[in-house]
Amino acid sequence: MNGFPAVDPIPLPAPVWLFKGLHILTLGLHFVTVEMLLGGLLVAIFLNLLAQTRQGRSNGADPANAAAALARRLPVVMTFVINLGVPPLLFAQVLYGRAIYTSSVLIGVYWIGVVFLLMACYWLLYRFSARAAEGRSGWWLGLGALVLAGVIARIYSTNMTLMLRPEVWNAMYSASGGGLHLPPADPTLTPRWLFMLLGGLSFAGLWMIWLSGGKNMHGSLQTYLVTKGGLLAAVMAVPQVLLANWVVKTQAASVQTALAGHAVYSVAAYVWIGAYGLVLLIGLWALVGKPKSILPGALSLATAVVAMLAMTIYRDGLRDLTLLGKGYDVWQRTVVTNWSVVVIFLVVLVIGLVAIGWLISVMMRAKPVSEKVV
Ligand code: HEM
Repeated sequence: MNGFPAVDPIPLPAPVWLFKGLHILTLGLHFVTVEMLLGGLLVAIFLNLLAQTRQGRSNGADPANAAAALARRLPVVMTFVINLGVPPLLFAQVLYGRAIYTSSVLIGVYWIGVVFLLMACYWLLYRFSARAAEGRSGWWLGLGALVLAGVIARIYSTNMTLMLRPEVWNAMYSASGGGLHLPPADPTLTPRWLFMLLGGLSFAGLWMIWLSGGKNMHGSLQTYLVTKGGLLAAVMAVPQVLLANWVVKTQAASVQTALAGHAVYSVAAYVWIGAYGLVLLIGLWALVGKPKSILPGALSLATAVVAMLAMTIYRDGLRDLTLLGKGYDVWQRTVVTNWSVVVIFLVVLVIGLVAIGWLISVMMRAKPVSEKVV
């Protein structure tokens, strides 16, 4: 008896590798946007607050304008957080249903609560964004949104770690089936949550570098964004690597050994570390060189996506190897591929991607609005 509920008699309608590939791709992109949201919000709150102080005003209008540039984009980022969160949720349920459904039911009240927390967070984000875009103070609204986003992240981390602990499920359910019990202490939870929260700061720095290369960025605001973004990215790159080390070190020794001995996950780890080395270098370049082209922004974007995809592959290995040690092998699922449905799915996916590409190209060609709010 390994604690996992009985196997779902319905076989998988497509190969495991296809679900896994799509899961990692969409989850990696979800994580990019989550980091932009968490980090961008924190920086926008800080700059909005700074703009009200005497020290901030000594920098002219730059803190207020930089806060507005970030804040007015945050509701859009949130739409991507949500829309890029739904596909991996579906793929995770298909691949790990017996684990993730169980953990979701055990913390059911908190899990369902995410919907309401998300609505409140979104509302506060709109309020903060509107005030910042008018050059007004609204940091407390942003702070409310940030706290709620942090709680949502905590609930996600709680569920994603609880799904790896079949040994505690029975006792939790016996104690209460009401969905209000949180899992017993887990040393992996807090490092994992902090890794995602703090990761936002280096991503916010990269995002500011990206924004500085926009058509409508000129003069002191452009310099402010590129140098402050560079500083943030460079300063936060090293703690992020140390945090990653903490996340790994809190895993069971057998999982650490299995991860280190697996070629794919080892390569993913090195790619991630290499990407963070690049984050440091891009940050320093932006800080010292104050470049005015789109190049540092483009490099920042590419590095952020590569880092997140590598992290997501490693994280996937962490989950698979932990579950394997407890008797759940994700690759041993019964698969009866329904190729006609798979082909239709892939065709629709390509059409969707082309449509999104076209929408982005329209957006890039649109007449830029002024970034100056004060
Ligand atoms: C403010 C909104 C959100 C924040 C801050 C957030 C944050 C996070 C974080 C921190 C994790 C990683 C947890 C861990 O492994 O330790 C995560 C995972 C995840 N999130 Fe989000 N999330 C948000 C909204 C959403 C929404 C709306 C959805 C879907 C409807 C979603 C879907 C997922 C999925 C599916 C995973 C993990 C999947 C897996 O491990 O296979 N997220 N999210």
